[in-house]
Amino acid sequence: MSSENLQEIVKQKYAAAAKQVIAGGTATCGSGAELSCCDPITKNLYEESQTSTLPAEAVAASLGCGNPTALAQLEPGEIVLDLGSGGGIDVLLSAKRVGPTGKAYGLDMTDEMLALAHESQKKAGVENVKFLKGTIESIPLPENSVHVIISNCVINLSVDKDRVLREAFRVLKPGGRLAISDVVVRGEVPAEIRKSMELWVGCVAGALEEFEYRDKLFTAGFENIDIEPTRIYKVEEARDFLSSSGLDVGKIGPLIDEKFMSAFVRATKPHPKAACCGPSCCAPKG
Ligand SMILES: C[S@@+](CC[C@H](N)C(=O)[O-])C[C@H]1O[C@@H](n2cnc3c(N)ncnc32)[C@H](O)[C@@H]1O
Repeated sequence: MSSENLQEIVKQKYAAAAKQVIAGGTATCGSGAELSCCDPITKNLYEESQTSTLPAEAVAASLGCGNPTALAQLEPGEIVLDLGSGGGIDVLLSAKRVGPTGKAYGLDMTDEMLALAHESQKKAGVENVKFLKGTIESIPLPENSVHVIISNCVINLSVDKDRVLREAFRVLKPGGRLAISDVVVRGEVPAEIRKSMELWVGCVAGALEEFEYRDKLFTAGFENIDIEPTRIYKVEEARDFLSSSGLDVGKIGPLIDEKFMSAFVRATKPHPKAACCGPSCCAPKG
């Protein structure tokens, strides 16, 4: 399947999830068997003190696998970008943290998710927020324009993760921070899982192996790379989902037990090295 087709399928799944929220429900990753993928992953990520300040729709639309706003360092006045902002929960929380002198951008490719996010912004009455339509593979912002990039369970869905990380690097200011939650794999993943389209859309099979993730971040130019597990999944948690996807859990279970984790991925964009302008500025002092 081509990358365009794959991206179109992802878009349709999240459009359907947004419509579930608009109809008064809670967002899920898809329908039927695919729903359960999100359960152990998305539940109980936010403190009541955070969700109680947000519109109900923003909370119901949450489909992340972590809470990057709780883990990321965000300072008043900073510009934050959320890659794959969905219903906008992390954008609204970030906007509070950076305050009126800062700004929070949310980027998403799915119209229905953007509509939901705009609605939540209106209800929350927050002004330092802007939602952008576009893909995380081609970020519609200039280079060196953002202090912090957050993202919550989206990079695993991308068909071109190298490009996403290159784009993240481009738009970050020198010294800027990447602080994302994502599903990460430890070690090899059985082929049955990699090829399952439902699992891909449902957040799992597109996940990078942790050393591959580090390599890609390094290749994109990042430094201070760190991958910290926030939840490690046992096969029991995914049993129903895997069985209903037609996978033989007895066979593949031991191969995937505790191999998938939600993780907090951190890295920074280095400051450019000072150009040597001759002995007067480069020679050691003293
Ligand atoms: C798993 S949901 C996460 C939403 C949000 N971050 C949250 O925590 O609730 C994935 C979101 O990313 C968006 N998305 C997936 N792939 C994308 C891409 N390549 N470019 C832009 N948005 C994308 C989907 O439209 C969807 O809203």
